Amino acid sequence: MDILVTAGPTREHLDPVRFLSNRSTGKMGFAIAQAAAERGHAVTLVAGPVSLPTPPGVTRVDVVSARDLLAAVERLLPAHAALVMCAAVADWRPAAASARKLKKAEMRPVLALEPNPDILRTVRPLKGGRLFVGFAAETGDPLAEARRKLADKGLDLIVANDVSQPDAGFAVDTNRVTFLTAEEHAPVALPLQSKLDVGRALVAWLERRAAAAPHSASQASPETA
Ligand code: CTP
Repeated sequence: MDILVTAGPTREHLDPVRFLSNRSTGKMGFAIAQAAAERGHAVTLVAGPVSLPTPPGVTRVDVVSARDLLAAVERLLPAHAALVMCAAVADWRPAAASARKLKKAEMRPVLALEPNPDILRTVRPLKGGRLFVGFAAETGDPLAEARRKLADKGLDLIVANDVSQPDAGFAVDTNRVTFLTAEEHAPVALPLQSKLDVGRALVAWLERRAAAAPHSASQASPETA
């Protein structure tokens, strides 16, 4: 299967040295890409600014901002049967960005922002028979929010995790996630495990789902979508 994975944060620059971003390190998305490549899938990994090596056998495309990420996903999606949106996309960007470093005296204490596009919502019309997977990283019980995002973004699967836990959030090598799907009502809570093993469980889910609907996900192409 051709699998498109996004990972890491986006950066929304105010000037060449200042930006808005978040705590994502890309570890979860890179682990998914590694797990998929290990199983012999063709993987394209669209990565925000992270300091991680590209997993063997994975094709990597680097991006900076949410708008770069959207452009990459729109360009690459037609050749892929599954999209795993693990990137922590910045929801807002500075309303104005300067090409040169701003001087302190020119800056105001209140920053004007404008919304970034929602990538999953924007590419939803291109879904066709493709499998779409999202992530819901929340602080506190993530299930209610994950269920809302599953429906709202038209996903096949959402992976929920509580990032306020020290062993399941940012920058650590383990995760404790729950899978919620559009069809099955009961959430499936996975034990605490390495992010690579979470990635393997996610890839196994994609394989099962593609096998159950061989004329959709596994054959998604620009023509059939
Ligand atoms: N996502 C996206 N485009 C955005 C923001 C998020 O495609 N601009 C994707 C993420 O990659 C993830 C899913 O949507 O797979 C949920 O992301 P999250 O940040 O939890 O959701 P938001 O829609 O930003 O909702 P909120 O900020 O209200 O929690």
